[in-house]
Amino acid sequence: MILVTGGAGFIGANFVLDWLSLCDEPVINLDKLTYAGNLETLSSLKGDVRHIFIEGDIGDRALISGLLQQYQPRAVINFAAESHVDRSIHGPEAFIQTNVTGTFQLLDAVKQYWIGLDVAGRNSFRFLHVSTDEVYGSLSSSAPAFTEEHKYEPNSPYSASKAASDHLVRAYHHTYGLPVLTTNCSNNYGPYHFPEKLIPLMIVNALAGKDLPVYGDGQQIRDWLYVKDHCAAIRSVLAAGRVGETYNVGGWNEKANIDIVKTVCALLDELHPRSDAASYAAQIKFVADRPGHDRRYAIDAGKIERELGWRPVETFETGIRKTVAWYLQNQVWVQNVQTGAYRQWVSKNYTDRSE
Ligand code: NAD
Ligand code: TYD
Repeated sequence: MILVTGGAGFIGANFVLDWLSLCDEPVINLDKLTYAGNLETLSSLKGDVRHIFIEGDIGDRALISGLLQQYQPRAVINFAAESHVDRSIHGPEAFIQTNVTGTFQLLDAVKQYWIGLDVAGRNSFRFLHVSTDEVYGSLSSSAPAFTEEHKYEPNSPYSASKAASDHLVRAYHHTYGLPVLTTNCSNNYGPYHFPEKLIPLMIVNALAGKDLPVYGDGQQIRDWLYVKDHCAAIRSVLAAGRVGETYNVGGWNEKANIDIVKTVCALLDELHPRSDAASYAAQIKFVADRPGHDRRYAIDAGKIERELGWRPVETFETGIRKTVAWYLQNQVWVQNVQTGAYRQWVSKNYTDRSE
């Protein structure tokens, strides 16, 4: 079996759902259920003996060691993290706690477990760390996309904490021989994405008749990848990635934020027109920029294609259409994640952003 951390969050839950739809290898799913973790996303697995959910913290050394001894997984995939840049600006401490200290405790517990395995078990074991392209910092408009050799230049408390975790993972391979793999992926989108991030926030606000807050001039560029393509990339790296290597994962799909928002509006105009027949684009509002906002990220995903044959299946056009349709069909899921804590966050992040 495999142990997944953060499997009640956006990417982790998509990974668990896809994994169990493709094979019968059981998954132990350890998640702290922070505001971003949602068991409703996993409700289709209720009663499924292949899915063992444990509520807990990756920083809880005793819990992790106990789970490893009890279940003897052949691999650990670490999705658990604090993941939202804006939250890291308002409250960086939780990011250090989970992304740095938590990853360290998890790694160290895994190392102790791995040392105790027999030779065959040690050789086949993998620790796969799921990370982000944001560790590489910001690119100018003409610079080539990030390769795995690009130097680390994180600019936000979030990306700095992820960079620190990547370094710890690397060190545990270099120093102790732990068989690690790291993936650095660009911005994901798709079903079960918490509506604090750009694409789901825009869909949810548009439908609620609210402003669509675009930071600064909206010309910041991100590479976007459909979440299920990311899950497939992780499966490929787990199965055949070279131990100790990092793999950049991306959609070959750079877009300016304002173009993403306009695309979402156009799809909503088509699939769920406003009652007054005006475009949802009328709700776009330019607001104060994010402090230290990275201008451009771009991923060169050539290495994972050359070595492992992975390429995204979805184009942005097919993926964003599926995503908008999913949010239209799953408004109960959206309502249920918009708890009091969600509303407090929205008020904290958006109240003082004058135009
Ligand atoms: P998310 O915020 O949606 O989910 C994170 C999950 O981790 C939640 O279920 C949360 O409850 C859990 N968690 C948080 N702290 C924990 C702790 N201390 N112990 C156990 N569980 C804890 O994040 P996501 O978007 O699904 O991202 C998953 C991983 O992928 C993260 O490591 C993130 O850095 C990375 N990543 C995300 C993106 C993206 O676009 N979302 C892109 C590249 C990489
Ligand atoms: P986000 O989804 O937070 O991902 P990340 O910061 O990890 O790339 O934001 C994506 C882009 O959208 C980023 O450039 C910030 C911008 N953005 C807005 O313009 N308005 C918003 O309300 C949010 C949440 C993000």
